[in-house]
Amino acid sequence: MKQFDFAIIGSGIAGLTFALKAAEHGRVAVITKRKGVDSNTAWAQGGVACVTSDEDSFALHIRDTLEAGAGLCDRTAVETVVREGPARVQELVDLGLHFDERNVSGHRELDLGREGGHSKRRVLHVHDVTGFEIENTLLSAVRNSPNIELLENHMAVDLITAAKLGFATEDHILGAYVLDESSGRVETIRTDRLVLATGGCGKVYLYTTNPDIATGDGVAMAWRAGATIADMEFIQFHPTCLFHAEAKSFLISEAVRGEGGILRNNKGEDFVRQVHPMGSLAPRDVVARAIDAEMKRTGAKCVYLDITQQSPEFLRERFPHIYETCLRYGIDMAKEPIPVVPAAHYQCGGIKTNIDGATSLPGLYAIGEVGCTGLHGANRLASNSLLEGLVIAHRACAALVAKSPPTHPAGAVSLPEWKAGDVQNLDELVVIYHNWDEIRRLMWDYVGIVRTDKRLQRASARLRNLQREIQEFYWNFRITVDLLELRNLATVAALIVDSALSRKESRGLHFTLDYPETGGDEFRHDTLLSHT
Ligand code: SIN
Repeated sequence: MKQFDFAIIGSGIAGLTFALKAAEHGRVAVITKRKGVDSNTAWAQGGVACVTSDEDSFALHIRDTLEAGAGLCDRTAVETVVREGPARVQELVDLGLHFDERNVSGHRELDLGREGGHSKRRVLHVHDVTGFEIENTLLSAVRNSPNIELLENHMAVDLITAAKLGFATEDHILGAYVLDESSGRVETIRTDRLVLATGGCGKVYLYTTNPDIATGDGVAMAWRAGATIADMEFIQFHPTCLFHAEAKSFLISEAVRGEGGILRNNKGEDFVRQVHPMGSLAPRDVVARAIDAEMKRTGAKCVYLDITQQSPEFLRERFPHIYETCLRYGIDMAKEPIPVVPAAHYQCGGIKTNIDGATSLPGLYAIGEVGCTGLHGANRLASNSLLEGLVIAHRACAALVAKSPPTHPAGAVSLPEWKAGDVQNLDELVVIYHNWDEIRRLMWDYVGIVRTDKRLQRASARLRNLQREIQEFYWNFRITVDLLELRNLATVAALIVDSALSRKESRGLHFTLDYPETGGDEFRHDTLLSHT
């Protein structure tokens, strides 16, 4: 049994930022199921949306965020993240991160990118590998901190709460059970301050821009522990994932459209312009739906992103990662349009939190993509999420440090060790892979960009059966990372379907043919799911 003043599960921008700040106040564990760098953050290409230019303003960034969010953003969350953003971004620069600059009339200025839904250029970036650079900057600071223990290849199984153990009338967090993959043992981590920073759940869909780690672990664990979950129907599909038989999950950043890239159908027509005046730079929900409709209408397997009007020199300098990767797949983006399709990209809902990341379960905080502060509403504005990760991590640390300890702190109660019981190894991995595949396919087919009640009900019925089967594996066989991820995926898939079924209108990222219009004020509220 190990005890920490703070434990963080997840090692992306939010988790690592929190860890560095918390290390000034006590001993910190960062628990991460693969290597430290394996996070959604490291895959972020676009950058950090932040007001830094004289031509921009907080008011404009707030307005763009609210407009993208389709009436469901929490205004306080939007104002807080936008206004506190510049100070938090400066902290990254102080750690050594160098955002791209350009020469303007003899002096250096930040080179600001533009993405869908933004009325101004405001995206700070490091070429097209912004997330990777941020991740490595934070990770090296974390590795150098004497107060932080980075537990790699450790996967959290479940949260330990006072109510679950019958210790207190008022529930609060006591720690987590964590599987150490190298030994196969489940360790007990004690803490009164547990922060979930596990990112999103893209792997719940067949096609995603997310890395393999994005299996919705935080939402699933918080749900099992009794925390309230919000707005899970709002899954953002990124319009432009590379369409190539051998390319898995490769994103073509929206910044390519920000530099003039235009989506075209197989006749070369700028079809998004016909549905929105911003054309290819319209908010993501609009663009993804336009592509989906165009592919269904023409029967085409993909559409094309055309940036051939830019010079090869510019493309190589601005998008080195995308340029090289496309070339490896035989596509020269300077000479020919890139074949693209939409793919699951971002979870706008998550564990319901306040503006400090506090969940409904005392002592449990959720920051970054796993949390739902209300910043994104029904549709996230591009590149707002890295900013949110920085701001909410800072606020969560300040809030937790200021909080008095619970009446029955984790250090004072005796926590039971994990009981593996008389279980055997699951000898047929094929059952896990089959269920995993089935979930991802049914979510893609029935719970995708365009939904109907009938498809959602079908998905719901199938998921209940799968959940029962997976629960049996969980109790009868030795747990592995694959099994834990499958269990979490099934839970999150069911939460997405239940949330989608309960919203009887179309809004932002949730579009259903049964209720194609956006409803009135009576629909303008979060979809909340809780056990009580
Ligand atoms: C992108 O580069 O297109 C992704 C940016 C984001 O999702 O915020």
